[in-house]
This record gives sequence, structure tokens and C-alpha cells, in this order.
Amino acid sequence: MIEKSLKLPCGAIIKNRIAKSAMSENMADAGHAPGFKFTNLYSTWARGGAGLVITGNVMLDLNALGEPHNVVIEKDHECLEELHAWAKAGTQNDTHLWMQINHPGKQSPKFLSNTPMAPSAIAYESHMKNMFNKPRALTAQEIGEIVERFAYTSEKAKSAGFTGVQIHGAHGYLVSQFLSPRHNQRTDQWGGSLENRMKFVIDVYQAIRVAVGPNFPIGIKLNSADFQKGGFSEEDSMQVVKTLSELGMDLIEISGGTYEAPKMMEGAKKKDSTVKREAYFLEYCEKVKKLIDTPLLLTGGFRSKEGMEEALATGACEMIGLARSLAIDPDFPNKLISNEDVKSQVRPLTSGIKAVDKIIPIEITWYTEQLHRMGKGKDPVPNASVIMSVLRTVFGIGSAMLRRTRA
Ligand SMILES: Cc1cc2nc3c(=O)[nH]c(=O)nc-3n(C[C@H](O)[C@H](O)[C@H](O)COP(=O)(O)O)c2cc1C
Repeated sequence: MIEKSLKLPCGAIIKNRIAKSAMSENMADAGHAPGFKFTNLYSTWARGGAGLVITGNVMLDLNALGEPHNVVIEKDHECLEELHAWAKAGTQNDTHLWMQINHPGKQSPKFLSNTPMAPSAIAYESHMKNMFNKPRALTAQEIGEIVERFAYTSEKAKSAGFTGVQIHGAHGYLVSQFLSPRHNQRTDQWGGSLENRMKFVIDVYQAIRVAVGPNFPIGIKLNSADFQKGGFSEEDSMQVVKTLSELGMDLIEISGGTYEAPKMMEGAKKKDSTVKREAYFLEYCEKVKKLIDTPLLLTGGFRSKEGMEEALATGACEMIGLARSLAIDPDFPNKLISNEDVKSQVRPLTSGIKAVDKIIPIEITWYTEQLHRMGKGKDPVPNASVIMSVLRTVFGIGSAMLRRTRA
């Protein structure tokens, strides 16, 4: 089943059922352009055999970054030459290459944003408040401008040769903040009822569709739930999936959680009967699939060919999303397609010091280093030391903060 092609509602065809899910590269040039490291990395992934490769999140505003070295595409900062080279590298081997487009909202770290913008002026609680400043609420005009930016960046991706775009609607960033009743407490047309909370994502989708036309794939990555008290619930999520599906979304990627409750990297607690199934959000897909025909891409937890084939066989999803596995073995899709019984070597990571594991998002920083190796033309090192990676991260964050305060 994995090797079968898939036709999307817009007519595009993806050569097999494996997608490389978005992983933020955080390795743009000083000017936020995607340099030669992107062509190296995406050539490697395109040759690795996935039918669809989704880029790490590309930002649409130089003043709204999630990480210091994000790629940014906005008016007068289109980086067209670099974008063309990136698209050419990533579409080799008949690979679909989609650009994931994101606005971090209030999830922009303190050393990058003094006052980030969000649906409402609600500060994070818990450990997040040490990392992110209290945001201010977006004005109606600013909301309209961000919608236009999503469309502008999408149009540039298309003209550079990317074969699709994906809206990042998951993991607690701006789209996800609008959807969440915990983070969106607006009293105007963008807040309150679910209908109002989903207006932003609908506006974004429709603006992109106008910009790229009916035959160009548009996808979205969405949470099955935020797993937070008073947050975006499973029932909300199903309604959003149904609405976006009716509007013509081509592919809906299912994830879950936010950096307050990072279930996208570890899964929610499962019933004993389903522990055997690798995928974190398969049960959700089984439920939502009954409401829609739009293809679903399920991401999170897949490690074995058997687990992937089983998930596809349930009919609950049409594609399998892989992230960490492809950061340590970019050739994994080729192996999956040609071998009966391959398994990813992804393992839980720990520094061995509980307090450090709590402060440093090791699952992100360690894997990002593997992407950087491939960007430099080197092979990943699946057994690289976690503690050395933590030390490099602490030093890297320190110097980025210093540069920022000096600038
Ligand atoms: C280093 C790293 C960076 C990530 N960056 C993104 C991102 O930019 N956008 C996104 O939607 N998900 C991002 N993710 C989440 C993955 O796409 C995926 O949802 C998650 O890792 C679970 O899949 P896996 O079990 O196959 O790794 C990132 C994950 C990692 C490890």
C-alpha cells in the first residue's frame, strides 16, 4: 500500500504514501534566505524516496520569528534565486515539495520578540512564561495583513517551483492560537464561538486559494487536540477538519499538542489495547475519517513498516508522515518501499539530568543538529551524544541572545 500513488482533490498526484513531515531547519543565512545548505538537505531527502517532502516552517514576516535562523519570505524579501535552487533540489526524483508557512503569534521567544502579537493579550503560564513575553492583541487591520502575507508567501513558493504549500495550523502557533478558546478570548468576529475562532484559518485558506489557483495543492497541519484544559478540543478539531474539507483543502495532516503539552513528539496516554499501534493520533483519524473524503496525512510515532501498513489498511489515513526517522536516516522511505520489515532507529532522548530535560527541548535541538549535518553535506549520526548537543545548544542560545541585545 505504501508504494501506491495518491491523487489529491486538486488533481495533483503524489507518487507514494510517505511524507517527510515539517522539521524546522533553523539554518537560514544571516539575512533569513535559504542558502546552499537547503539545496544539500532537500536533495538528500528528495533522493530518499518520500512522495511528499514538506519543508520546515517558513515565516512570512521578518519581525515575527519562531527561531533565529528561520527562512522568511515577504514583500521585498523574496529570496527568489535561493528559492528556485531549493525547489529544484527538493523536486528531484518526481518528489512533491511543499512549503510549510507559519506565523508564530506569541510563540516567538523573548530574545526575538519584546512584544509578540497574538489573538488576545494572554501571557503563557507554567514553564512557557520564562521563554515568551506577554503578547499584545492583534488589531483587525493586522489580522487582515497577516492573511495577505500567507497568500503572498504561497504565491512566491508556487512561482519558485514548489509544488504545494502547507498552512501550519498546529502546535500552538498563530493559527492554532486563534482556534484555541484558551488563547483566543476576543469578543469580535475572530473570537468566541468555534465558528468565529476558525474564521482566521478559513480566511487564510481562501486567500491562498485565490493566490495559487484551483490546481495547486494546499494542505494544513492541524491538531487533533491541544491536550490542555480549556484548549482546542477533539470535537472542535473535527468540526474544523470538516469545514476545511468542504472548502477544498487537498491534504490534512493530523498532529496534536503544543509546546505547553508536546504530545506531537510523545503522544497522549493510550489505552492498553492501542499501545501496540505506533501512531499517536490514529484513533482520532479513525473518527474524523467518517466525516470527510479529503485525504489525511497522519504524523507522529510511526517507526515500522508494519505499523504504517496497518494504519493505511484501516482506511483512517491515506498518507504516513515521518519526521525524526528521516532526520537520522534520509533514505528510510526507499528502504520502506523496497524491504519487508524495516524499523526506524528513533529512540527517546535524555541528557540524563531531569532539570536539563525540562528546560531544553532536546527532541528539537538534537534532531536539528542532524539536519545541519546534512545541510553541510555530511551524514547524520544516529547515536550522537545528547549531552554534547545540549552544551552546544546552551552556548548557541547564549550567543544568539547576545547578538540580539547588541544589535
Ligand atoms: C527538529 C524538529 C523540528 C520540527 N519542526 C516542525 C515544524 O517546523 N513544523 C511542524 O509542523 N512540525 C515540526 N516538527 C514536528 C514534526 O513534524 C512531527 O510532527 C513530530 O516530530 C512527530 O513525528 P515523528 O514521530 O515522526 O518524529 C518538528 C520536529 C522536530 C524533531
